[in-house]
Amino acid sequence: MDSIIVRGGTPLHGQIRIAGAKNAALTLMPATLLTEEPLTLTNVPRLSDIRTMSQLLQSLGTEVASMQGGQVITLSSYNLASTTADYEIVRKMRASNLVLGPLLAREGYATVSLPGGCAIGARPMDIHITGLEALGAEIELRDGYLHAKTKGGLKGAVVELRFASVGATENIVMAATLAKGTTVLKNAAREPEIVDLVKCLRAMGAEIEGEGTSTITIEGVDRLHGATHQVVTDRIELGTYMIAPVIAGGEVELIGGRIDLLQSFCEKLDEAGVSITETPAGLKVARKNGRIRAVNVKTEVFPGFPTDLQAQMMALMCTAAGESHLEETIFENRFMHAPELMRMGAQIDVHGGVATVKGVERLRGAPVMATDLRASVSLILAGLAAEGETRVARVYHLDRGYEHVEEKLSAVGASIERMKGE
Ligand code: EPZ
Repeated sequence: MDSIIVRGGTPLHGQIRIAGAKNAALTLMPATLLTEEPLTLTNVPRLSDIRTMSQLLQSLGTEVASMQGGQVITLSSYNLASTTADYEIVRKMRASNLVLGPLLAREGYATVSLPGGCAIGARPMDIHITGLEALGAEIELRDGYLHAKTKGGLKGAVVELRFASVGATENIVMAATLAKGTTVLKNAAREPEIVDLVKCLRAMGAEIEGEGTSTITIEGVDRLHGATHQVVTDRIELGTYMIAPVIAGGEVELIGGRIDLLQSFCEKLDEAGVSITETPAGLKVARKNGRIRAVNVKTEVFPGFPTDLQAQMMALMCTAAGESHLEETIFENRFMHAPELMRMGAQIDVHGGVATVKGVERLRGAPVMATDLRASVSLILAGLAAEGETRVARVYHLDRGYEHVEEKLSAVGASIERMKGE
């Protein structure tokens, strides 16, 4: 397993290009199952999760053509050979469950392994199941798989989610595009990745309104056609790299960065003493002056503070002046980066869903362990600010969600390198 070594203390200067959003691409790719015509996606991030989703879709019979080093992919699901998403793939990536809605809509049945838990939580699928059952699906859990079928196809319905689940919203919206009649989805997730999915589905001929609000209305149509769609900018990669010049010092321009994707996150950075300037190419970020101030954070569904940036913000708060409280309300176990940051000298106290961080002057480099995707990158960020060398092990977690992190950071002056197979 590879590890990454970071030597801290160098201020960062230059530009980082932000890639397309992993969490948009992972729901856009299964949309191929909704049509027999080719769907081309551009600005696709080059990540292992994208390769995993390609493998899953190919196992169902989709042809996947990858061009420009993976940044452009064309998916053709003319003939489906299977409607089963196997445990071996699903256990590696929960987003595999996003084939459930499209398969039900296209074929009338689907067998999808339950993803099983992951490092950050149990990750159940009850909201997906309840929503699809409201559209007329019969779903039974047997042998760790969801066995779903519809007699006579899906029918539009009014569905209210008990929680604004991102994945459940995506599965239900995709299924409803081919259902008979109107579906009104209430308490729908509002994330930009949902907005991007709806833009693509609309280009494919779907009739959908209300994306980005809590109520999405879908008029079912008989069929969808192919389209070409550009994947939206990755707001989580953007937020991650916005923190880099703040924690390490210097100033970095994030190409493709947009404040509207991260309003509440940018407000928190501003409160902490960060300068964010919109430029023609994106966003320029630097400390305003002196030390960063401690701020309190509570993760919420969009447009609140993103849970996927909680670990990165905690890394920044480790060297902020004062005490900050970070409350994680979306996942039940998303503080695994805390003990690793403490190995670097951070002062963190975790009680239930709240982590209290007392800022220290300097962190000290140490060997640390990546546990999940966003925790991994928070350790890299901490390493940029730490005295000495930080070695982050198990960086396969990192490669799931960040394109060539060592290349992007070394291009702005960070001392960072990957050790193969360490
Ligand atoms: C998406 O996961 C993202 N993944 C996650 O990003 C992100 O953290 C999450 O949304 C929240 O924003 C992708 O888009 C591929 P949820 P998803 O359904 O859809 C509970 C990353 O780092 N829940 O909104 O799985 C669930 O357990 C990843 O890129 C149920 O209880 O998130 C969790 O506590 C990590 N029942 C909460 O809701 C359900 O049926 C949020 O889950 C579904 C979810």
